[in-house]
Amino acid sequence: ITARLADGPLKGKRVLVTSGPTHEPIDPVRYIANRSSGAQGTAIASALAALGADVVFVTGPADVPPPTGVSVVRVETAQQMHDAVHEALPCDAAVFAAAVADWKVDGAGDSKIKKVAGQLPTLSFTENPDILASVAQMDTGRPRLVVGFAAETDDVLANATAKHARKGCDWLLANDVRPETGIMGGGENAVHLVTGDGVEDWPRMAKAEVARKLAARMAEALA
Ligand code: CTP
Ligand code: CA
Repeated sequence: ITARLADGPLKGKRVLVTSGPTHEPIDPVRYIANRSSGAQGTAIASALAALGADVVFVTGPADVPPPTGVSVVRVETAQQMHDAVHEALPCDAAVFAAAVADWKVDGAGDSKIKKVAGQLPTLSFTENPDILASVAQMDTGRPRLVVGFAAETDDVLANATAKHARKGCDWLLANDVRPETGIMGGGENAVHLVTGDGVEDWPRMAKAEVARKLAARMAEALA
């Protein structure tokens, strides 16, 4: 349990955090998901609240329960997360830790797809909205500090630096999510912080520690 610091450095600041995976329905009984546990986003929301922030926590169906002391908005799909995020604006800062599905299944409807012997279903996809980019590139009402994540399996720094520029966010925390790192679903994270000034390599540490370090940096930047 994290006690809110009534007079913490983020007192009076409204901060949005997205977290967890999204689920994209195929039909009423099936969905496409990803391996995000929601642990890092939850730890970040908790650390921000501990510094006194008013946190709006928009979460997909995560494995870990949301932190206490934050306003929780539960969503399932990327489109719902997008809509909930824009409803929660304006805010002072936003952290996009969710693992948002890039695509949704076309024509997912109310009827279960039936198995027919010898016939395979074909799924087609359309692109989901890019929630981070839609906030980072706002012309008016943009949060002062927009922080994204980059989950990569290859060329982590090159991809992350390009992603930082493409998305238009202020900071990007990049991590290597190859299965052998144990980061997806594990208790630790090893991140690189990409800012306009360059790249900082943070040592591997507990997700709660990454969260505290990020929250402290955000408090400094927003002071
Ligand atoms: N993100 C988002 N909405 C999406 C996709 C991603 O808000 N539809 C956010 C994530 O929460 C993360 C950042 O964008 O903060 C980067 O997500 P990532 O999946 O690494 O980037 P993509 O641009 O989707 O590129 P790719 O999956 O090809 O690496
Ligand atoms: Ca993606």
